[in-house]
Amino acid sequence: MKYTIMIAFFSMLLFADGETIYKNKCALCHAGFIPMGQLKENFIEYNNTKLNLKGPTLNQLSFRLKQKIGDPKGDQEIHEMEVVEFVKEYVYHPDEQKSVCMDEVIEVFETMPSLEGVISEDNLEEVATYIYHFDKVSLEKNSPYYVGFDKALKQAKNENKFIMIKATSEHCHFCKKMDREVFSEKEVLSMLDKNFISVEIDVYKEMLPLGLKSKVTPTYFFIDKHAEIVKTVPGSWDKSDFLEILNEVKNLEKGVLK
Ligand code: HEC
Repeated sequence: MKYTIMIAFFSMLLFADGETIYKNKCALCHAGFIPMGQLKENFIEYNNTKLNLKGPTLNQLSFRLKQKIGDPKGDQEIHEMEVVEFVKEYVYHPDEQKSVCMDEVIEVFETMPSLEGVISEDNLEEVATYIYHFDKVSLEKNSPYYVGFDKALKQAKNENKFIMIKATSEHCHFCKKMDREVFSEKEVLSMLDKNFISVEIDVYKEMLPLGLKSKVTPTYFFIDKHAEIVKTVPGSWDKSDFLEILNEVKNLEKGVLK
């Protein structure tokens, strides 16, 4: 028994996972998740004086690397290998010429110091894989809690809340932009959590409930607890405008058909 624990302990030391390696070797300069809207504001309007970051954040790195290296629409395993190879190369031989970050981001930083001799190739491979998946994983963690429509309707009745149905599709650019810049923001998440039940439907895979039709994605349908549509909002919005929409719906006493 003791022996097994010891083996487990030593193998943990030998095979540190990506997150642990990130914390030990990269977190000093690369912060974890910060919503994209705040990053944009920090770099574009404030020249990094608002957040005072020491390097691009991990979600920023993950997002840009996946967009700029290899073929993002091609085979996922091959793409992952391409990104991992790029990260390995960069960490040992940093060079801003090779950088994939936005100009506004790169301008505020010195070139990263080489970590040759500081991190082993195995650990680097592990942490690069962690970075590859970080964008998706962190976005899922920082997103509304979605349920199916039937459950949402029951819950809306029980908890006296409105339902927000988000009509999306897989390759919808503005849906993803909203996920990154609006639905990952704390204020939006807490507003949704307190007053709404969120439903997400990919309109190419599933029918919208109540006979709803969306001409564009994203479209946001707000439904009251009696299954009446109170507001339909098509298109992409920024955080403050979308919060205003949520506030307006939240303050409706009865269903006002629109
Ligand atoms: C001492 C601070 C520091 C440490 C430690 C550090 N980085 Fe960096 N890194 C930076 C800075 C600053 C930049 C932005 C400038 C640049 O691209 O060189 C950067 C950029 C990068 C880029 C390039 C992004 C692009 O623009 O293409 C990658 C990839 C990267 N870091 C990965 C890592 C990984 C993985 C680790 C940990 C094993 C790590 N960094 C540790 C400071 C650091």
